[in-house]
Amino acid sequence: MYTGFLGFRATFMLDVVVCALVGVVPTLLYSLYLVKVQRAYALHRNIQVLLGLVLLVTVGLFEVDMRMHGGIRKILEQRQIPLTSEQFAFFYKLLYVHLFFSVTTIFLWAATLVLALRHIPNPPTPCAHSTLHKRLGWLSTVDITLTSVTGLMVYYFGFVV
Ligand code: HEM
Repeated sequence: MYTGFLGFRATFMLDVVVCALVGVVPTLLYSLYLVKVQRAYALHRNIQVLLGLVLLVTVGLFEVDMRMHGGIRKILEQRQIPLTSEQFAFFYKLLYVHLFFSVTTIFLWAATLVLALRHIPNPPTPCAHSTLHKRLGWLSTVDITLTSVTGLMVYYFGFVV
């Protein structure tokens, strides 16, 4: 049974994750605009913490959903036109690239967040931790953007084409 709501033969949680992947990059860009242009540091902090929580809950529920549906291979079996072996091979390569970015993002994001909450004063302002925070922050930004792009490609090649 497919339970997705985007009109493809995916599961409900796969569709939720796709929406989260689409939403995360513009939200992050807005948060960076707030910190760089508006110097609205507290709002930037709140958005980043919220984004972290939303991503954590989404990824957690997604993992449960994957187990319940017997893994990605079982979900792909619901396709109307099955993938050829070449398409399968390409799909798995893409999936591993995506997993690399998504796993590194979790660690980078957590490190950026925990260190910022520990070392940046409350209310937040530029401080001695700024240089490291900016470095980690931009790395996290690039990593999560690549997670989003590769995740959307996984969905596209697995369920849309
Ligand atoms: C994973 C979560 C976060 C990411 C990805 C992130 C990302 C960034 C980035 C990329 C910048 C640099 C912008 C620039 O080039 O000027 C920045 C600046 C800043 N962030 Fe974050 N941030 C996060 C969480 C936080 C948190 C939790 C706080 C507060 C506790 C915070 C406070 C600040 C402050 C005060 C600045 C300005 C630093 C300065 O200009 O000296 N950030 N953030």
